[in-house]
Amino acid sequence: MIYLDNAATTLQKPQCVIDAVVRAMNSMGNASRGAHSSSLSASRVVYDTRCKIAKLFGCSRADHVVFTCNSTEALNIALGGLFVSGDHVITTDLEHNSVLRPLYRLEKEGIISLNFVPADVKGRPDYSAFETLIRRNTKAIVCTHASNLTGNMIDLERVGRIARDHGILLVVDASQTAGAVPIDMERMNIDVLCFTGHKGLMAPQGTGGLCIREGVEIRPFKVGGSGVHSYDKEQPSAYPTRLEAGTLNSHGIAGLSAALDYLNEVGIETIRSKETMLMQRFYEGVSRLDGITVYGDFDFERTAVVTLNIGDEDSAIISDVLYEDYGIATRPGAHCAPRMHEALGTTEQGAVRFSFSWFNTEEEVDEAIRAVAELAES
Ligand SMILES: Cc1ncc(COP(=O)(O)O)c(C=O)c1O
Repeated sequence: MIYLDNAATTLQKPQCVIDAVVRAMNSMGNASRGAHSSSLSASRVVYDTRCKIAKLFGCSRADHVVFTCNSTEALNIALGGLFVSGDHVITTDLEHNSVLRPLYRLEKEGIISLNFVPADVKGRPDYSAFETLIRRNTKAIVCTHASNLTGNMIDLERVGRIARDHGILLVVDASQTAGAVPIDMERMNIDVLCFTGHKGLMAPQGTGGLCIREGVEIRPFKVGGSGVHSYDKEQPSAYPTRLEAGTLNSHGIAGLSAALDYLNEVGIETIRSKETMLMQRFYEGVSRLDGITVYGDFDFERTAVVTLNIGDEDSAIISDVLYEDYGIATRPGAHCAPRMHEALGTTEQGAVRFSFSWFNTEEEVDEAIRAVAELAES
């Protein structure tokens, strides 16, 4: 199989990640739940991984790195725990349902009011709207770092400056960029960064988290066992315990730790330049074919995603044929990004997303171009 669905999850993981999980499963106790060596070794791995994540994303405090099982959980914790009745929130048409649904729910419950920065037909956000939508009661801008549909990135430094100048929070969904693109919470003025482990970070599924700027208060989403302050009726107030009730996925976190070492060894810039080269090669190969529509803006910073349609054929049929006849795995349909499909005009047809990773090759890209060319011709 040629796996080109890396924006959904990276299938191929570095061997050191697999080895680290197996080692952890053979040796780890429960982190922060005892003083015997297996519990302590789990605690050390978890703490070490917090430090590596803090360093990677420019989070000033390792104890403000909170682990979750994915970015959906991280976003639910952040959005559910930040807002109070009467707050106004600005988000964008580029968002994934992991941002939209928590916000829609808060809006429906009458807690927040919500406005959207619109995207144009190429999926580009209207940057002026980030500023014009701000009101007296605006608490936060919540936005993705990159669209999971077009691959186009949002200029976070620009949005971060607007947030800072108006004294509002910037909450970022880095699901598509964590591990694939350099992120610096300080430089970008990010207050809460939500990430997932199983995509660009090349870690196991079931890993992810939030990085929280010092001074930002998020109420606990779940409460329960913490291993400390067990006689208190309330969840401990200090991060990360405040947001981490229950046993952590330490086995997955051990894999995440190894993945971070791997990323540091190879270098995010090296990985990014290979993925960009593969994406560009594919884009150049398919965009000149008759009958192909490619979505998004290729003149602006982007992740390694190319999304297209062939004529007016249903994207699910194209994706099925690509897999059944050519062994190429892609993702059709709506990609959990309803407003972005509305902006692109693809709600009926969906679109076929090709997404590339560090482990893909130029030969695989060329095979995919050949397959698209054959389908376009037929
Ligand atoms: C932009 C974006 N946000 C959020 C998510 C949710 O990620 P997870 O499934 O890891 O929670 C995804 C996953 O596809 C995504 O692409």
